Amino acid sequence: MADYREKARERVKKCCKVCPVCNGKACAGQIPGMGGIGSGMSFQNNLTALAAYRILPRYLHEANDPDTGADFWGQKLSLPVLAAPIGNVIANVGSDMPTERYTELLIKGCREAGTIATFGDTPQFEPVARNFAKVGDNGAMVIPFFKPWAPDDLVSRLDMAAEHGCAACGVDVDAAGFPIFRRVSRSYGVRPGRDIAKLVEMTHARGMKFIIKGIMAVADARIAVDCGVDSLIVSNHGGRSIDCTPGTAEVLPAIADAVGDKTLIMADGGVRTGVDVLRMLALGARLTLICRPVAIALHGDEENGVELYFGDLQRQLVEAMRLTGCANLASISREILCRA
Ligand SMILES: Cc1cc2nc3c(=O)[nH]c(=O)nc-3n(C[C@H](O)[C@H](O)[C@H](O)COP(=O)(O)O)c2cc1C
Repeated sequence: MADYREKARERVKKCCKVCPVCNGKACAGQIPGMGGIGSGMSFQNNLTALAAYRILPRYLHEANDPDTGADFWGQKLSLPVLAAPIGNVIANVGSDMPTERYTELLIKGCREAGTIATFGDTPQFEPVARNFAKVGDNGAMVIPFFKPWAPDDLVSRLDMAAEHGCAACGVDVDAAGFPIFRRVSRSYGVRPGRDIAKLVEMTHARGMKFIIKGIMAVADARIAVDCGVDSLIVSNHGGRSIDCTPGTAEVLPAIADAVGDKTLIMADGGVRTGVDVLRMLALGARLTLICRPVAIALHGDEENGVELYFGDLQRQLVEAMRLTGCANLASISREILCRA
């Protein structure tokens, strides 16, 4: 992995220093780029919020061979971690490869690792279509995330997802503030609950599940659930939407307590190790997503880098589960955490 990090550093040097820990300090304020918005605190708070939960080890039990297998609406995953979406990898990652090549490699790497790939949206339809062209027969394991356009402007994107056999589509509502999108369309921005309900209906009518990404407040989580979403992702967009938010691990428990029995809860932001995955699951997420470190792994050794990355993460998770007495994902609970 040291080798691939060196290679990645060379390939993404316009936007990312490939720091020993990807924590948002060196890249604070760098958007376009890999950073968090403004002061960078929303990004950094993701890591500090996770670190505030300490792990309570357990050694007297029989969970010696933990199972990290997860179920995602019938799809069996080898670990409860998905690759998070990135919209424009040239502008944001400083990549030397076009976004659709990134998508292609991500899909291959995730497939080998036994998990789900995702991709993001752009104002123009053509780049989205180029991403879809890389889906091939992997639709069930690829989730496109669209920007919060008005429902009628999402029709062609949803149609394309259904044509490619995608099992689910998402909308990252927390992208509502991105000026680049607001400049191109008045239909873009924050969405009232009735729009989400309509999007759920449109997505279900095409045989797909609907995921809302970017929930941070319990009130929004309740509205999303009332609108019928199949899943919500507790996320602050990697700290890129609005400055000075809490870290996601800080708000996750209250959201899980409020709606965890009514929808599939996922969470992302600052997850870097198997112990972090364990923390997110203990706090109420059933699955987590990781963005920046996956992008680095991919630039280090293309699809092999992605597979290597997830393989290493899975081994870390196995070890973390073994040393906290968790035989499987369902047995991970808040009992393994102490507040710092
Ligand atoms: C460069 C970059 C581009 C991103 N583009 C998108 C996007 O197009 N759509 C989306 O839903 N999230 C996007 N995100 C947010 C990630 O999907 C994810 O929620 C977040 O980065 C997770 O935090 P992590 O990077 O600390 O793992 C982007 C994040 C980064 C760093």
